[in-house]
Amino acid sequence: MKKIRFTETVLRDAGQSLIATRLPYDKFEPILETLDQAGYYSLECWGGATFDTCLRYLNEDPWERLRNIKKIAKKTKLQMLLRGQNLLGYKHYPDDVVRSFVAKSIENGIDVIRIFDALNDLRNLEVSVAETVKRGGVAQVAISYTTSPVHTLENYVKLIKQIEAMGASSLCIKDMAGVMSPAECFDLVTAIKKNSKLPLHVHTHCTTGLAYMTYLKAAEAGADVIDTSLSSFSGGTSQPATETLSYALKQLGFDTGLKPDVLKQANDFFKPIRDEYIKSGLMDALVMGTETDALTYQIPGGMLSNLVSQLKQQNALDKFQAVLEETPRVRKDLGYPPLVTPMSQMVGVQAVANVLAGERYKNVSKEVRAYLRGEYGKAPGEIDPEVLTKVLGDEKPITERFAATLGDGLEAGRTEAGPLAGSLEDVLSYIVFPAVAEKFFKQRAEKQANRVAYSIVKL
Ligand code: CO
Repeated sequence: MKKIRFTETVLRDAGQSLIATRLPYDKFEPILETLDQAGYYSLECWGGATFDTCLRYLNEDPWERLRNIKKIAKKTKLQMLLRGQNLLGYKHYPDDVVRSFVAKSIENGIDVIRIFDALNDLRNLEVSVAETVKRGGVAQVAISYTTSPVHTLENYVKLIKQIEAMGASSLCIKDMAGVMSPAECFDLVTAIKKNSKLPLHVHTHCTTGLAYMTYLKAAEAGADVIDTSLSSFSGGTSQPATETLSYALKQLGFDTGLKPDVLKQANDFFKPIRDEYIKSGLMDALVMGTETDALTYQIPGGMLSNLVSQLKQQNALDKFQAVLEETPRVRKDLGYPPLVTPMSQMVGVQAVANVLAGERYKNVSKEVRAYLRGEYGKAPGEIDPEVLTKVLGDEKPITERFAATLGDGLEAGRTEAGPLAGSLEDVLSYIVFPAVAEKFFKQRAEKQANRVAYSIVKL
């Protein structure tokens, strides 16, 4: 029997896509044991935006959340998303910080680390992959999916071979914008399966409405695992529904390993929670629908809405068409970066700046400047030499791995974090999100002081 397995995203990507990652631990704790019995390959439950949101909005220690999940969900692998050398933040961290973060993630309960880089520059993944393997975790390397003249099947296969040589445990095609079509997915999965023995996961979003068909073709082409979310948190900008795909693929002769009655029980738990978020307005009708403009413009949906809001702020909505035409030109100039965070923002802001200034690259953000300097890594294609000269002048871009130019960071972070950061986990929280971590530490200390005061009064 053909086999396909599922990664459940309701605790991470689905919530990040639909309700800005605002699901507190207490709300999903009662269903963890059930989720653990459903037969998933893994539960994606940590990393991505969960870490920042725990500290910033939910007043939760993300490390404690992870330990708590692990205490209950003992059977199923726990999975996280890690942005390679950027960890969960937005800049490159020194290697000692990356190693320590990976080691602590595994020590606190993570089994599978899905690691990716916005540019698919594998040098930005090598430290986290090596450390994951060393600590006994599954190092899953995800390629950021995009289409461009340099993102050919041949180049993707080349990339996959390099990933294999790095010692990755499994592979993932990560289509963060939901723009991968069923036909493209079938060809890519087929090509990868022909050239690699590693298990292959496919990750997409329903945004443009393609995802169910894309997963069907992924399964036909031999993908090993697909990412889905329980139906009440599926669709729109989130993943396709677990129950639906499990039902359909089973009829097509696939063993999914999932137990439909357990899935129903889990979904019945999440349904009223979803309704609560709709009522409070946190789950907007807009993220629930299908948005096909991304297919017309070949620009991810989130990026399109950012362009509109930028132009609105500048009172220049009449320039929308010009910006839409400028965006692919900027992307080409920059060597066809995949339009994923932070590249999508950088390309969008630059396209708007070029149009509004009436002169291309007259105004350049510090991020684009850093990108041209090579600080984000190597561009997939060639960066336009004229743009390079116009922005950098005589300055030569670096060609080595940017993190190799940074010194150690752990000890400095420990000193800076101060006495409120009690554990190495705290220090790592502080290094990645200094301001929000500090606020969290202070609140935690106050809570503890109150608790002590209260118990004294009771005595
Ligand atoms: Co995603």
